[in-house]
Amino acid sequence: QRSTRALLVSVTIGRRDDPDAIEELKQLVVSADIEPAALLSVRRDRPDPAYFIGAGKVEELKHEAAAADAGLIIFDVALSPAQQRNLEQTLGIWVLDRTALILYIFSQRAQSREGKLQVELAQLQHLATRLVRGWSHLERQRGGLGKTGGPGEKQIEIDRRLIGVRVRRLRERLKQSEKQRRTRRRARSRNDVVSISLVGYTNAGKSTLFNALTQASVYAADQLFATLDTTARKCHLRANGLNGKSEAVISDTVGFIRGLPHQLIEAFKSTLNETAEADLLLHVVDAASPARAEQMAEVERVLHEIGADNVPTILVYNKIDVIGRAPSVERDSRDNIVAVSVSAQSGLGLELLRDSIVEFIARSAGGDKSPANAKQDENIPSWPSAAAA
Ligand code: GTP
Repeated sequence: QRSTRALLVSVTIGRRDDPDAIEELKQLVVSADIEPAALLSVRRDRPDPAYFIGAGKVEELKHEAAAADAGLIIFDVALSPAQQRNLEQTLGIWVLDRTALILYIFSQRAQSREGKLQVELAQLQHLATRLVRGWSHLERQRGGLGKTGGPGEKQIEIDRRLIGVRVRRLRERLKQSEKQRRTRRRARSRNDVVSISLVGYTNAGKSTLFNALTQASVYAADQLFATLDTTARKCHLRANGLNGKSEAVISDTVGFIRGLPHQLIEAFKSTLNETAEADLLLHVVDAASPARAEQMAEVERVLHEIGADNVPTILVYNKIDVIGRAPSVERDSRDNIVAVSVSAQSGLGLELLRDSIVEFIARSAGGDKSPANAKQDENIPSWPSAAAA
């Protein structure tokens, strides 16, 4: 069977074209098992309220889509319900925006019961605004005939009610799993288990690092959002290195990405809470990516949104094998560990990272109130930004 072919539309507002953003859009599309057939770049000073892009560009899109034999058009921005509807009506072709694309990938990836419920909740909430407003738009047009309470209106009510019922049920079930999660977390802190959470931009190498640190085998793939569900495993550290604490548990979490749909963050709150309540975050950075500075900033932004910006953090610069760097540890002026450079894949620097974790735990157990925290330090690590120049 032929795979779905899509025409990609990359829209930049005000700025120059961003080749990294275009590359990321392609990766996202491929991750969704959709074939990127052609690309149209559009630059505007501000979005057009009706179509996001100008009417002339819409015409161009129509021709491009036909020429590329595309069955759908994907916009690399979040479209309003009205823009999406107008585009679909004018183009006569299925239109997906960035939010819907990410939601779609998440729905393909969800494995655990909780993950599936979370994605469904996010999708329904995204759909609800579109569906309801779509119908009311139809009603407004019909309103001209002086009728009220037409069949469309009844349909809106039914759809709204059904979605409402399903959303409530999903919320209830998620509350249950949240409760179980909290119980597990309490048990861990009672047992003096240190919890470490891996965070990072999608494809930074979190799962690879997770496997290396736990010697587990979690699915790692060169795909965006290969891992969706939080998995917690025992972290293999040095024996006797934990100074009173009995063990460390490490969790792999969902990857972050620019424009992560708000509904998703909302729906994944309970999973992400795990991150906010961790004792230590390992922020994994793809040191080989030219876009790493923006990616780090995006991760910081999401951490802030989920209330995890005060959790002590060690930056893990990953993939140093690609750029030919040696493993290293960076410290701030108070001798706290700020960053460790590793290659999760080849194992380079993993001992340094394990030692750093043990040192962090020992320091916090020893009552050191200033554990490693890159964000509290004014000296932002000079590398790899310097290497980029
Ligand atoms: P998401 O699930 O999208 O959040 O990705 P992730 O951060 O879990 O990344 P993952 O571990 O799946 O790795 C992404 C890709 O990078 C895979 O193809 C890995 O093989 C590759 N990779 C991970 N670590 C390294 C590394 O140290 N060196 C090199 N060269 N490749 C790596």
